Amino acid sequence: MYLVRLIYTSEVCEGFGPSDIEDIIEKAQKNNHASNVTGLLCFNSSYFLQCLEGSRQAVNATYHKILNDNRHRNIIMLNYCEIYEREFENWSMGYIPYSKITTPLNLKYSGTSEFDPLAMSGGSAHKLMMALRDTLVNQ
Ligand SMILES: Cc1cc2nc3c(=O)[nH]c(=O)nc-3n(C[C@H](O)[C@H](O)[C@H](O)COP(=O)(O)O)c2cc1C
Repeated sequence: MYLVRLIYTSEVCEGFGPSDIEDIIEKAQKNNHASNVTGLLCFNSSYFLQCLEGSRQAVNATYHKILNDNRHRNIIMLNYCEIYEREFENWSMGYIPYSKITTPLNLKYSGTSEFDPLAMSGGSAHKLMMALRDTLVNQ
């Protein structure tokens, strides 16, 4: 079963609150653990940025569920590729709160100091997520 990585961004819908993010993380960790999907979810009050990795079939099935979720909209795939190995193997779904996504990181990977995944190439979004993963490792 081939390993793939998928990165997408989306806009947070109005009315989205703390209980919604808790529900998403709980479901993601439970379902992803069961289907051997790993990855990272970044979030601020405007955007989600998520990386999913796993078998092509499992990532595809997870992405289809996510596409149908009405808690976000304008879902745009930034990166999809076959990979040789996982980069988030320790996280069924690691969660990065906005406080970790700092101005220097945004400036390093995009043309703006704000967290705006639509202003990032797929490659930059991937590199930002790797940098954020390292903040989880070192915390
Ligand atoms: C931004 C965002 C990210 C999500 N990430 C995942 C995920 O990684 N895995 C997952 O199973 N569900 C994820 N969900 C939730 C799914 O859309 C869906 O609600 C959930 O998979 C349904 O789970 P259930 O079939 O067990 O009820 C996410 C939803 C949103 C809005």
